This record gives sequence, C-alpha cells and structure tokens, in this order.
Amino acid sequence: MSDASKLVSFSSLKLGITVLVAIAILTLAYQLTRDRIAEQQRRAELRGIMEILPADIYDNDILADVIPVQSELLGDAPESNRPAALENRKIYRARKNGQPVAAVMQVTAPGGYNGNIELLVGVLLDGRLSGVRVTSHKETPGLGDGIELRVSEWVLAFTGKSLGQPPTDRWKVERDGGDFDQFTGATITPRATVAAVRKSLEYFAAQRDILFTETGDSTPSQESDPDGNTNG
Ligand SMILES: Cc1cc2nc3c(=O)[nH]c(=O)nc-3n(C[C@H](O)[C@H](O)[C@H](O)COP(=O)(O)O)c2cc1C
Repeated sequence: MSDASKLVSFSSLKLGITVLVAIAILTLAYQLTRDRIAEQQRRAELRGIMEILPADIYDNDILADVIPVQSELLGDAPESNRPAALENRKIYRARKNGQPVAAVMQVTAPGGYNGNIELLVGVLLDGRLSGVRVTSHKETPGLGDGIELRVSEWVLAFTGKSLGQPPTDRWKVERDGGDFDQFTGATITPRATVAAVRKSLEYFAAQRDILFTETGDSTPSQESDPDGNTNG
C-alpha cells in the first residue's frame, strides 16, 4: 500500500471513529433527556392528581391503578388520523376500601389557539368534577395562559360542576351563551378547554361502570356517545 493510500485509510478510520463516538454521545444525551422529561411529566401528573383529588377520599395506589384508553371524547384523533406511535391516554382510578370513588383522566383539548391543551380531569363517581388542571399548553402568555392555575383561578370554576350542573347547553363560555367566563380578547382557549372537559364528562358517564372493572391490559372503549352507547 502506498503512503498516500495509507494516509487515506487512516483518515477514514479516524473519521469513522469520530462519527461513532458522536452518535454514541448523542444517543446517550437523547436517552438521558427523554428519561428526565418523562420523570418531570410523571411528577407534574402526580402533583396534578394530588391537587384535584382530596387525599382522604381514596386509599389505593392511584398511580398503579391505571388503564389505557382511547376515545375521541378524550381528545384522541380519529383512528384513521392517529399516528401508530401515539400512546393511549391514561385513566387513574381512585378507590376506598376497594370501592370506586373517582377517576382522573388525561384529556386533550385539540382546539387551543396554538394547538393542543393537555388536561387532567378529576371526576367523582357521581359525575361531579373534583377538579381540572392544565398539564401543558402553548397558549399565548398574557392572553390564553389564564387556564394555568399559577396565572389565574379560572380553572377552579370547574370544581363541583357536572353534566347536569350547569345544563349541557350551558357548558360553553359566556360569549357563546354558556356559564363559563372567557378571557378578555381571548375566547378560543377557554372555549376549547370547556368543550374538552364537557366531552370528558360525557365519556365518563358512558363508560363509568366498565372503567372500574377493566384490568390494565385492555382498552375499555374506542368510541362512545353521550347517551351511554358504546361501539368499541
Ligand atoms: C399573536 C396573537 C396571539 C393570540 N393568542 C391567543 C391565545 O392564546 N388564546 C386565545 O384565545 N386567543 C388568542 N389570540 C386572539 C384570537 O386571535 C382571537 O381574537 C380571540 O381568541 C377571540 O376572542 P374574542 O372573541 O374575545 O376576540 C391571539 C391573537 C394574536 C394576534
């Protein structure tokens, strides 16, 4: 082998090693970041659950009593538009002495001004909301971010409400003839949030009985309607 070809193969080897090391570093950094983000999301979720469910109403390990579900009423994209990689959302079940008392549902409000608004919706067995929290959103600071409890108390208005209280046709912002406040100059965000919470209550009403008997390995329903019929 000539000196020139030796030099070329040495440079290629060096380049190859450098690329491999760079790939290894990037893979490791990605995994560490992904794990950290997952852990932060888990903590935010736990914090949200603790905020919306009074600790004395349940005695089970709620984070372990969870089922995966999929329904357009919870904000899932229709089956045909759903990326295969999308994870099912979760429903956490709260029990006392083995009896169901409440559920906390992961819900997506798809119609925010800047995209999806992710919510935790806590609902008691009788259909009353124990609370709602926004876990993530991209709404505009100063306009739509009043859905966050650290910015305003708007989200607390849901507590205690149910499908009948107010009546279904008043589950809207005031601008649309409903009972919920909007924000000045920013109606889209609260409108999307109110609609998503109402739909999640419809889901709960239709699925309540099987939600608490399902084991964690199956999906209770693909679709449901407010009258309690299921086709999933
Ligand atoms: C830059 C920009 C950001 C906005 N961000 C939001 C938002 O986060 N949430 C929202 O509801 N409306 C937002 N709006 C306002 C909407 O365009 C729209 O005017 C409003 O939501 C309708 O509410 P209104 O009927 O009270 O005017 C934004 C508008 C602009 C120009």
